[in-house]
Amino acid sequence: MLEIRDLHASINDVEILKGVNLTVNAGELHAIMGPNGSGKSTLAFVLAGKPTYAITSGQVLLEGVDMVGMAPENRARAGLFLSFQQPMEIPGVRLDQFLRAGYNAIHKARREEELDVLKFDRLLTRKTKMVGMEAALTRRYVNEGFSGGERKRNEILQMAVLEPKLSILDEPDSGLDIDAVRIVAQGINQLRTPQNSVLLITHYQRILNYVQPDYVHVLINGRIVQSGDKDLALQVEAEGYDRFEAKEQALDLSPSCPPLPKGEGDVSPSLLGKGARGLG
Ligand SMILES: Nc1ncnc2c1ncn2[C@@H]1O[C@H](COP(=O)(O)OP(=O)(O)O)[C@@H](O)[C@H]1O
Ligand SMILES: [Mg+2]
Repeated sequence: MLEIRDLHASINDVEILKGVNLTVNAGELHAIMGPNGSGKSTLAFVLAGKPTYAITSGQVLLEGVDMVGMAPENRARAGLFLSFQQPMEIPGVRLDQFLRAGYNAIHKARREEELDVLKFDRLLTRKTKMVGMEAALTRRYVNEGFSGGERKRNEILQMAVLEPKLSILDEPDSGLDIDAVRIVAQGINQLRTPQNSVLLITHYQRILNYVQPDYVHVLINGRIVQSGDKDLALQVEAEGYDRFEAKEQALDLSPSCPPLPKGEGDVSPSLLGKGARGLG
């Protein structure tokens, strides 16, 4: 489904992603965990094609098609969906109209049926129930005056309506109390199928009590330093990110030039000399 190979990306010439590798198969849910500033949102935006980010090297394949250089709307038509960490308000645009426009744009591109207002309304009623959202919210302007929980639920509603192949959910749990996290998690679970995949970005383990990940990856300073199953998330919860940060820093110390503590520099050449003589 998704294959990321040695992805490097920067903003304003500052490298943020420093060689990300990730393979997500159909039907899998992968959690990406990491501390603030580790590059989680950058990864999400780069995958979605936000123009302010430059991919300096590497490949991103969605179902075998290279997405690097593809416009964001074409990525969406190809089945990619990004839910925002901070969903924006769109004053003057009703949520139901917004969703129908998105739905029809994608269906048109796929030469599938577009829906008129009446038909779409029936579909939307079904989808709102599915994600536990009040139908009345869909007749308001997008996110205007929505609570934090309603905004996040609205992101999941979009996912339900657009039926993407790959959903990238950027901290769908951030800023929510535990009941709201559970509702969002239930929505995500409802939408999982053997055909689609989810990249669930989160800072905290708690949403993974309700959403079962197939894999968990820890992203530190633009690199995945460890991958595992849900136990890795529990480990992060228990220990924090410090140990993973140390692991990431160790990646930078190339074996050819480790900074030698004072004193050791004097010893090793002589040891080397002895070794060399011993061999001869
Ligand atoms: N527009 C920008 N210009 C410069 N640096 C940025 C910009 N946006 C994000 N960054 C930096 O990129 C790094 C990763 O940020 P981000 O991807 O948002 O991390 P996360 O989502 O893991 O908290 C941070 O150090 C952040 O300061
Ligand atoms: Mg972020």
